Amino acid sequence: MNSKEKTRELQKLTNELIKKQSSSTLHKKDLEQLRNILRFHEYRYYIENDPLISDYEYDQLFKALEKIEKENPALVTADSPTQRVAKGLTKDFPTVQHLVPMLSLDNSYNPEDLIDFDRKARELSGLPKIEYCVEPKFDGGSISLVYENDLLVRAATRGDGVEGDEVTANIKQIHSIPLSAKFSEYGIQQVEIRGEVLINKKNFTKFNEQMIDQGLTPLANPRNAASGTLRIKDPKEVAKRNLEAFVYHVSYFSLNKGKKNPVELNTHAGTLALLWELGFRSPEKEKKIFTGIEPVIKYCGEFESGRDDLPYEIDGMVIKVNAIALQEKLGMTSHHPRWAIAYKFKARQATTKLLTVEFQVGRTGAVTPVAKLEPVAVGGVTVSSISIHNEEYIREKDLRTGDRVLIERAGDVIPQIVKSLTDTRTGKEKKIIFPVTCPVCNSKLFKEEAEAVWRCINIECPAQVVERIIHFVSKDAMDIRGFGDANVRKFYELNLLEDIPGIYTLDFTKISGLEGYGQKSIDNLQAAISHSKQQPLHRLIYALGIRFVGETTAKTLAQAVNHLLDFKKFSFEDLQNLEDVGPKVAGSILHFFSNKNNMAMLEQLEKLGLQLKNQKKELSAGGNLKGQTFLFTGTLPTLKRSEAEAMAEEKGGQILSGVSAKLNYLVVGEDAGSKLEKAKKINSVKIISEAEFLKIISKK
Ligand code: IVH
Repeated sequence: MNSKEKTRELQKLTNELIKKQSSSTLHKKDLEQLRNILRFHEYRYYIENDPLISDYEYDQLFKALEKIEKENPALVTADSPTQRVAKGLTKDFPTVQHLVPMLSLDNSYNPEDLIDFDRKARELSGLPKIEYCVEPKFDGGSISLVYENDLLVRAATRGDGVEGDEVTANIKQIHSIPLSAKFSEYGIQQVEIRGEVLINKKNFTKFNEQMIDQGLTPLANPRNAASGTLRIKDPKEVAKRNLEAFVYHVSYFSLNKGKKNPVELNTHAGTLALLWELGFRSPEKEKKIFTGIEPVIKYCGEFESGRDDLPYEIDGMVIKVNAIALQEKLGMTSHHPRWAIAYKFKARQATTKLLTVEFQVGRTGAVTPVAKLEPVAVGGVTVSSISIHNEEYIREKDLRTGDRVLIERAGDVIPQIVKSLTDTRTGKEKKIIFPVTCPVCNSKLFKEEAEAVWRCINIECPAQVVERIIHFVSKDAMDIRGFGDANVRKFYELNLLEDIPGIYTLDFTKISGLEGYGQKSIDNLQAAISHSKQQPLHRLIYALGIRFVGETTAKTLAQAVNHLLDFKKFSFEDLQNLEDVGPKVAGSILHFFSNKNNMAMLEQLEKLGLQLKNQKKELSAGGNLKGQTFLFTGTLPTLKRSEAEAMAEEKGGQILSGVSAKLNYLVVGEDAGSKLEKAKKINSVKIISEAEFLKIISKK
């Protein structure tokens, strides 16, 4: 059976199991099949990044498995998908010895170093040209996994290279690491695998935002976040961080009786392919094989240019001699193998001087210290100021003005101070003193217990008012193009704008008298302001800047009412019954809607023509695409994507962000790419043109 047939077979089985599940006819005899199917879908989701069933369907099958196992505890296996679920806290991480010491890699920083590496390898081997396998150098925390008789039995951190900490319970939270793999099919009894645990850039940013929200110290980079997470004693917490893993090396294996070395393990590329085949995420797709060092250098350069487009951080490439026999011949020094070398990309760290600290007041009144730095180039951009978050952060990092500091900028991740270089202090550095009054309105600052943030609680504080307006007009909120931070500040300073409703009563005759405002820019601004009155309710809710209400919660809230002012009637319990609304968020919403000034502002906004009604609810009630999901890809012949999406939504349809089995219609235009390829593989997705889409819309 080829892999397509296999997938089809498994999908058929999935459908049968889903049917049985919904008619409650899943039984003990289905146990093994159920586990296999869940493993298959985990693989599609976490390794292939191409799910074939919806999260809901997966959850239903998972719950069914849990139920059968609960009724038949003797039938639970160590590699059942349910066994990732963490039970209790880890007491400590026992020290364990690696089967083979974990060595480091020699580093190189320029093509000459690589040419030198190749020359030495050729001299030692006596070969005229060497075949290399080149792959990314993942920037996370290294791990070592041991599988025995196909089961994951132990996972450890690098430690000192000889011994590491056993972190198996945490590693089981990483879905791209299989709990079991059919090594026995290759004759392997025990195997030790090396890899890297990562947190992708998106999850890292999300994680740091949450830390800042909670007044906790954010982490300097995804690498620290990944390796730090491995040491958390609560595996449930680890699970929340969505770690990922790549594996790239087999450091040891033993064979079952009478079995021969699998040929796949004769080359590094074969090893990566074998690992991929067994359900691991190896750099099978990223790796390339070359003969001679010149094309290797070229490939490294290509990867470096595309580095920012990757979802995770890499800090270089690893060049490995492909033939394992040749690797063995070249051997190693006490520190690193002679058959591999890391090619490090340009550093994203730099040192500079911390000149002063300014204190900025945000829209929620939080006072944030911002370090002003001697400008320095890091990873292609010049950095001259960096948030240093809060008082505790300053204390923890022992930051002082005049210090030399090490800063890091990981791709599109916001730059951070890694540490202060205390050894270079001259004695002239000064402690950073946190203000006791608001640097803008002078009122006393307050700090809630259990929070690290000092706040100005004067809601009239000019800094807060300005920041609230800036947030209101911003792209993800009311999206008033051409307004921007600078205009808000300027109009506020000139008393042309003093609060949010003031946006809609701006005196354009006065603005036209200002320098730099031509008729065209005024017309555009006026049109953008007027257009924003039609923004859907969820955007308005997000724009209000209610604490803890991000875009997702705003959407949930918008769905819950017919009119925004209905929230006046919501109790703490009503709010908590909404999806993803916990006590903290509910408290904040309640606080917002019980404030008379806020209510007066909303009423004023409605009078000015803003939409406080949930239009979608009205429309979709009469719409005929209810329950139908759409996704648009490629350039459509006549419609802009946003227009087409709005049309589908108006009729009650839902727009999905990616192709999955949840999708009903993929509307394709010119140059449709991977989404179309993906959709072709899922039978239930209907692939249609713009014309067909318009027909559906007009019919219904
Ligand atoms: S191979 C004996 N391959 O880089 C060879 N290492 O600086 C073992 N790393 O400790 C290492 N990506 O944690 C190898 N594709 C890759 C890697 C990689 C990241 C890490 C690994 C190692 C460190 C050395």
